[in-house]
Amino acid sequence: MQKKITIAIDGYSSCGKSTLAKALAKELEYIFIDSGAMYRGVTLYCLRNGLLPEGIPAVAPIEATLEHIDLDFKFNPETKQADLYLNGENVEELIRMPEVAAHVSKIAALKNVRHKLVLDQRKMGMNGGIVMDGRDIGSVVFPTAELKLFITALPEIRAQRRYKELKEKKVETSFEEVLENLRERDYLDSTRTESPLVQTPDAIVIDTSDLTPEEQLRIALNYAIEKTQNA
Ligand code: CDP
Repeated sequence: MQKKITIAIDGYSSCGKSTLAKALAKELEYIFIDSGAMYRGVTLYCLRNGLLPEGIPAVAPIEATLEHIDLDFKFNPETKQADLYLNGENVEELIRMPEVAAHVSKIAALKNVRHKLVLDQRKMGMNGGIVMDGRDIGSVVFPTAELKLFITALPEIRAQRRYKELKEKKVETSFEEVLENLRERDYLDSTRTESPLVQTPDAIVIDTSDLTPEEQLRIALNYAIEKTQNA
């Protein structure tokens, strides 16, 4: 039997990481984990429980409440995708709302939040056969992953894609608002002290600006097959 490898996909906001990770996992019959959904889940919890007064994280109360935040993925047979559950409630749609996007990078910068989620993520990937996307997957969560991909695309193209996605979901927003949020998150994610977004030297860079989802899948799949054969 062929060895099941670990695939880490990192990159900036809305560059096609999740689309690629999902498609790759489907082709390889691997587990797909959207680590960003977990940071979004914690952010939703904070917003609902008054832990982001005036948009500023109440660090000590957040850390004290972390043990009460239970995050889980469950397969949704309708969409054929895994939905995020926060303390037993399906929050897959809620975590994609602009209000969560506006605050998530501040929550993701907190040391103990990262500590908790990284432990959970490592458990999920314990046996290989996983594709996980995020910001610190190749650098911190799975530094020994057999395949690391770093995905990029031009900011305007990324904003256009995310705007289209939100429009399709009938979420009230504007292109300018989406672009601004994307720029702000990229800045916060790359400059924070705790596990900033970095391109590790062993990561393969894929610029998806001019690629269709099918083209980016083909490229990534070729690397995955090569790594699986050498594993
Ligand atoms: O889908 P998009 O790329 O816009 O974002 P996401 O993957 O849903 O992640 C939302 C936010 O969570 C990011 O902007 C980061 O601030 C944070 N995040 C992180 O810090 N580390 C990860 N492994 C994944 C996400």
